[in-house]
Amino acid sequence: MLQKNQFLSAIPALTIAMAMTSVAYGSTIAKTASAAPPAAATASVMSVAAATPSVTSSGIPTVVQNSCMACHGLQGVAADGGMFPNLAGQWKPYILRQLDHYKTHTRADPQSSIMWGMVAPLTSAQIQQVAAYFSSQKPASGHVYDPKLVAEGKKLYFGGLPKAHMPACMACHGATLAGLPPFFPMLAGQKRTYVINQLTYFKSGQRVATHKGIMQYVASRLNQKQITALAAYIRSR
Ligand code: HEC
Ligand code: HEC
Repeated sequence: MLQKNQFLSAIPALTIAMAMTSVAYGSTIAKTASAAPPAAATASVMSVAAATPSVTSSGIPTVVQNSCMACHGLQGVAADGGMFPNLAGQWKPYILRQLDHYKTHTRADPQSSIMWGMVAPLTSAQIQQVAAYFSSQKPASGHVYDPKLVAEGKKLYFGGLPKAHMPACMACHGATLAGLPPFFPMLAGQKRTYVINQLTYFKSGQRVATHKGIMQYVASRLNQKQITALAAYIRSR
């Protein structure tokens, strides 16, 4: 991890993010920790129980079976080789934020309009329901497609690019790539095409991140080869 001072001077926006996150950065969260929703998430799900929308006979939200499943998989693990992201085990606050950003068209990268249409008909109770469902699914397992690229990506992930003032990804997304709620998404096992697309959209400014500037800043330091290597490493975990 980079020195805190070096890090903060590189990205002022992070000061806010760090101040709002009371959890210590050094602590590593096991990837599987996200399989069990935190108590707070469970409580908030219970509080909307009265308005809870329908589930299938196997307990899966009907909207997941009728809609989300086609692209994200029934358990939130998308098909390999495609452009659709995994959602399984992702932190609930992050999923909720993205769904809100699709609903309000705040997330307006070149593929986002697919999701604008998916979220538009959902009630807020259904949004809570699908976010709770996907965040409680078992995260995708890693796969190594190209060991050399994976090694390059790993170096960048943990070391950053000090000369280009790019902080290590690890500082925010964690040593196990599990992320840190509420702000930092889990990356472990995410699909390569999706990761390449998102880093490219951050770099071009087409995807505006929640904490303005953080990911645009990071991605602006990366070339296409480094983006591909990082995507290979992320997929391998
Ligand atoms: C027709 C395919 C399709 C369907 C159906 C679909 N999605 Fe998506 N979803 C996508 C694509 C493509 C993206 C990436 C869009 C982008 O780049 O902004 C995405 C992105 C997302 C993201 C953001 C993931 C991240 O890591 O930031 C969430 C959350 C999500 N979808 C939830 C859902 C939910 C919930 C449903 C069901 C109500 C659903 N999706 C249905 C194609 C689909
Ligand atoms: C200073 C903190 C910080 C650092 C360092 C950082 N990220 Fe992020 N990253 C974030 C935040 C915050 C988000 C969520 C943005 C949002 O909510 O729109 C994010 C989102 C992402 C996403 C999109 C995830 C998704 O599911 O759509 C990817 C991919 C990503 N980061 C990769 C990286 C990589 C690779 C590095 C290192 C080169 C890195 N990040 C470094 C804070 C950081």
